[in-house]
Amino acid sequence: MLSSIQSSVPRRMLVTSALPYANGPIHIGHLVEYIQTDIWVRAMRMHDHEVYYVCADDTHGTPIMLRAKFEGIKPCQLIQRVWHEHKIDFDYFGLSFDNYYSTDSDENRVLSESIFTALYNCGLIAIRDIEQAYDPAKKMFLPDRFIKGQCPRCSAKDQYGDNCEVCGSTYQTTELVKPYSVISGITPIKKTSTHYFFKLSDPRCETFLRSWIGQLAQQEATNKMREWLGEDGHKKLTDWDITRDAPYFGFEIPGAPGKYFYVWLDAPVGYYASFKNLCDRRGLNFDEWVRPGSTTEQYHFIGKDILYFHTLFWPAMLKFSGYRTPTNVFAHGFLTIDGKKMSKSRGTFINANSYITAGLDPEWLRYYFATKLNSTMGDIDLNLDDFQARVNSDLLGKYVNIASRTAAFLVKRFNACVLDSAMNHPLLIQLRDAIPKIETYYEGREYGRALRQVMVLADAINIYVDEAKPWMQAKDPNNTVALHETCSISLEGFRLLTLALKPVLPRLAKAVETFLSIESLKWADVTVPLSSMRPIRPYQNLMCRIEPKQIDALLFANRQYN
Ligand code: 2FM
Ligand code: ZN
Repeated sequence: MLSSIQSSVPRRMLVTSALPYANGPIHIGHLVEYIQTDIWVRAMRMHDHEVYYVCADDTHGTPIMLRAKFEGIKPCQLIQRVWHEHKIDFDYFGLSFDNYYSTDSDENRVLSESIFTALYNCGLIAIRDIEQAYDPAKKMFLPDRFIKGQCPRCSAKDQYGDNCEVCGSTYQTTELVKPYSVISGITPIKKTSTHYFFKLSDPRCETFLRSWIGQLAQQEATNKMREWLGEDGHKKLTDWDITRDAPYFGFEIPGAPGKYFYVWLDAPVGYYASFKNLCDRRGLNFDEWVRPGSTTEQYHFIGKDILYFHTLFWPAMLKFSGYRTPTNVFAHGFLTIDGKKMSKSRGTFINANSYITAGLDPEWLRYYFATKLNSTMGDIDLNLDDFQARVNSDLLGKYVNIASRTAAFLVKRFNACVLDSAMNHPLLIQLRDAIPKIETYYEGREYGRALRQVMVLADAINIYVDEAKPWMQAKDPNNTVALHETCSISLEGFRLLTLALKPVLPRLAKAVETFLSIESLKWADVTVPLSSMRPIRPYQNLMCRIEPKQIDALLFANRQYN
């Protein structure tokens, strides 16, 4: 298991989050994943491991092509604009990508083509004619999402081709009554076309995937894989259609004019394309990271809905095209708001931009999500009252409070210098002993546990300060040394808490580093206490409380979008 690997051994890690589609804004559901990954990446960097976190916009496919058409612009104009919008959101939330790229790039075209060619050359591409729904007015094949009709079960009108939102039943698109094209409104016809398939049913894929399963960290993922691999004896892996016919926005398949790679073929390759672009800019050796036998690690953070693509297609594509395979895939659950799916009509489909417009501190949300996150695929819930209460109570009431209670005494009475002899107080030893466990929780993606532990430690420091009563000590000239000790212990405790919170609250941690006149904190600094050689700076407010009017501002800003 990962956690048994000694943190002192430098590791080399490539980490990704799923690529967001380039036809819509980032919402807080997306942010769960980017924040989860970013916290992990930051925790790993604090070990001095060599870590690269890459991502990109997922730019291809029919919805993006149609969206651009609807806006009267070219797809490349749309994806450029959306890239900038996404980048603003990601920067605001402190996401520390080493590269944020685009799947519509030369690197991605070259890599996608070469992976396809390698799969073709080893006999894993089949060519077959298939019949699909076709819109004769628009002269295009219709993906399932672009066909609507009456539900075959309850006759509700305008239902999508796979499920009915009224009665909840699921069915095949061919079962829809009075089907129509969402684009032209006319009835689709059937049309035959030649498609390329990735032969996942080939025994080589199955044998490989059966063994690859063994390294998955999540039991739920392993169970799903077993189900897909047909361990119940009923199902078998089916070949994957990787072709879409023109008109399509994507990469044309070499040697097949008018045929394009399905967006899901080039999207995961986009992880490598983004990394390749980074390697070329930074002078890193791409092959050293991505070829079989590499000693580097490769992790993909995703939502549970796209597990299939990341645990079947992607590892098999890599394996049989001459690349290394992922070390692990970490899937998280969905975000619910007040226990329900995000909904535009309920006003709970909250965009990142609404949060920014309302001027809320991004680290409040990072902290709140982190308190809820664990290593499972369970859904996590956002409740705005709970959000406000948790952040105010933990971050303001418990953590920041420690510094604000004692820093002023240290500056005014002791030239801003700690008492070195207080640095081995039993309370501080207790805190230092707790940090390795917290590091392990981060690595195991048990952020909720890590933060509960941090708050237990914050409580212990507050109790210590309450009992020492520095405000009383300050009044008694005989208690000068005791006051100096109290303030020094509480500020060293504050430093240790900051170390433990840093992956979650990077900006706050930076402000604390400036305040305490210390270098950028890493895990190894657990044993490097504050020193009288480096006076602290006067305390300045580190974080504000969430006020109810700010939540109102968030909901107001969001209404402008819905
Ligand atoms: O589901 C999605 O939003 C996809 N755009 C994720 C792609 S992840 C990767 F494979 F590129
Ligand atoms: Zn129905």
